[in-house]
Amino acid sequence: MTQMTQSPTEVDLSQPPGPNMVRVTFLPEGKTIEFEYGTMQYDHHGKPMSLLDVAENFGVFLDHACGGVCACTTCHIWIKEGAKQLSEADDDELDRMETAADIQLNSRLGCQAVITGPGTYVVEIPKWNRNYVQEPHGPKT
Ligand code: FES
Repeated sequence: MTQMTQSPTEVDLSQPPGPNMVRVTFLPEGKTIEFEYGTMQYDHHGKPMSLLDVAENFGVFLDHACGGVCACTTCHIWIKEGAKQLSEADDDELDRMETAADIQLNSRLGCQAVITGPGTYVVEIPKWNRNYVQEPHGPKT
């Protein structure tokens, strides 16, 4: 299976994102990506425009054992900025989150939290997620 990953463009962090631009920073790596809202292709990981979808598109490791269908909690993330511009958690996500480790008020599932408009988003990937050995997901070829 060929991994399609968009190349991040150089982001000038001294300036706010431009009109209609989405800027996402993944912590603690500190990787920031930026793209025009509505132009990112769906990478078939989680809901379209979910933070998992963004991570997959730009080569940021965010584990997602169930493939992004709200059936595990490995994509658990903490939203540091931009929470109000994300889709609201539905009952399935809230139920699943109850089983997550180290849940906080700003916890979301990366595969379910969808970016709903241009703006700035800052996401922290918990340490226990970052330390997993990355295994390829998806169909074997
Ligand atoms: S990847 Fe399994 S719940 Fe998000």
